[in-house]
Amino acid sequence: MQIKYFDTIVIGSGLAGLTAAYHASRFGTVAVITKSQLDTSNSYYAQGGIASVMSETDSFDLHIHDTLVAGRGLCDRDAVEILVKEGQARVKELIGMGMEFDKENGRFVLGLEGGHSKRRILHAGGDATGKALTCFMLKKVVEQPSIQSFEYTAAVKLLVDDGYCHGVQAVDFVTGKNIVFTSRATILATGGLSRVYDRSTNPHTATGDGIAMAFEVGAEIADVEFIQFHPSALYVPGQDAFLISEAVRGEGAWLLNPLGERFMKDIHPQAELAPRDVVAFSIYKQLQKHNCDFLHLSLAHLDSEKIKSRFSNIYQKLQEFNLDLSKDLIPIAPAAHYMVGGIRTDLDGETNIPGLFACGEVASTGVMGANRLASNSLLECLVFGKRASEKAHQRNYPEWQSTEILPVNIDVQNENFFLETKNKIAGMMSRNVGIVREKSVLEETICDLEEIDRNIPKGNMEYNYLKVKHVVDTCLLISRAALIREESRGGHIRDDFQKQNPDFKVHIIQQKNKEPRFTEVRR
Ligand code: FAD
Ligand code: SIN
Repeated sequence: MQIKYFDTIVIGSGLAGLTAAYHASRFGTVAVITKSQLDTSNSYYAQGGIASVMSETDSFDLHIHDTLVAGRGLCDRDAVEILVKEGQARVKELIGMGMEFDKENGRFVLGLEGGHSKRRILHAGGDATGKALTCFMLKKVVEQPSIQSFEYTAAVKLLVDDGYCHGVQAVDFVTGKNIVFTSRATILATGGLSRVYDRSTNPHTATGDGIAMAFEVGAEIADVEFIQFHPSALYVPGQDAFLISEAVRGEGAWLLNPLGERFMKDIHPQAELAPRDVVAFSIYKQLQKHNCDFLHLSLAHLDSEKIKSRFSNIYQKLQEFNLDLSKDLIPIAPAAHYMVGGIRTDLDGETNIPGLFACGEVASTGVMGANRLASNSLLECLVFGKRASEKAHQRNYPEWQSTEILPVNIDVQNENFFLETKNKIAGMMSRNVGIVREKSVLEETICDLEEIDRNIPKGNMEYNYLKVKHVVDTCLLISRAALIREESRGGHIRDDFQKQNPDFKVHIIQQKNKEPRFTEVRR
């Protein structure tokens, strides 16, 4: 088996991974391992933009306040302060490096999204911020001679020995070659997991591998009951849930029920721009009430030329479905979009396992609380990607004397097993652990997942079996946390506990072979 040593290993090539790799390259050699192509990530598809205090009428205090309000009492305040204050510095640094955000008359055009009290969302290419930002960072990463990238290479197992993480076992699934990457610091930047739901805005790679791998070796997993469902994803039966950015509502788009009513006006003073948990749940209730599968987004009352240029990417995509964003009623429904919790880290991205770091969507730094404020996640990638790489550099863990590692083999005949099982689980998660949850359904789901787990051949390092195991473990973590949290808060709504309960103003931590526990929120 091939063994490669790097000073830092980064797993994932979204904005968090690229940021971490770029900064780590100042200190030595870096491997970037990524499951698909370098530009396949949630980051690449980001539309609305990146939140940052950039106007004279805005302030750090306002951005902090909006983040805390959206987080429903579960944000760790110190982490939020770092996000907002260092976030502005990171954004300015990017601009200094040559990143171009959209401007008009020499000034940044700032967008508005749910839960923000000010216009503070920088965007690029109109609604193609993720593409512009990841391509910009990719170029910077590729230019660094100390960074080597490995595409189509899936991390499958973290190598933890004597309590230290010494690297990761990975497989190049095109050639079937096994590679063991060893390092003093392994940074997980594997992104989210919303593809474990069948209606999701995420690319197929977002299946929570990082969370499953970290849990397996004893990392603390926090707050994974909080899944953010984006209110407005395109609803066309049989088609992917293409995102229609919240920034569209920021420019004045209306949400209409089947009676043509703007129902959000009666629910929240910010109407269509209420925080995301409120809008997604309100849409859910309308769908139940009117017994339908989708509602409508309407922009017909807005300036059509402005809409076409500001949202040219969404406009073009909708044309494939014979829909005109500027004048037609656009069918939408919520879709799984973002993992709010994740691998628990300190303020520098370090997990409870020495040598193992996490940043970006896979991590739970404490900034997102129970419900992420829109467009705060790209900012989190920049801030905590840099912090993780710098703390990783300061660590000096013992060298690893490699032990025997079982190689991963790929049996193409098991591909169908993976796809069928994954689709079955995704349907189950959407039905049973979606926007609204309930005790008996969660218990049933946990039993069904445990049954699937029992049927995965054990002691087997076949790639498709490992992938199924990761999906099952991830879904069990979400379902178990959802069962424990007997209240409704942010991205977790219980039909049987409809109110927020102050006793649950705590993080839920899960760790392998330990009872779940609660920890205090840092004020
Ligand atoms: P990702 O960008 O998802 O990158 C994860 C990487 O890890 C990928 O390269 C993946 O292939 C790789 N990977 C996964 N598993 C493995 C494995 N086992 N081995 C090797 N590699 C692996 N946020 C905002 O702030 N503003 C927005 O406007 C916005 N719009 C969005 C629009 C869409 C459609 C989506 C889906 C999300 C949006 N978000 C937005 C959320 C935001 O994009 C993500 O939270 C953020 O980009 C996550 O970045 P990341 O680097 O942590 O993960
Ligand atoms: C969007 O553009 O609506 C997505 C923004 C986000 O998820 O932060």
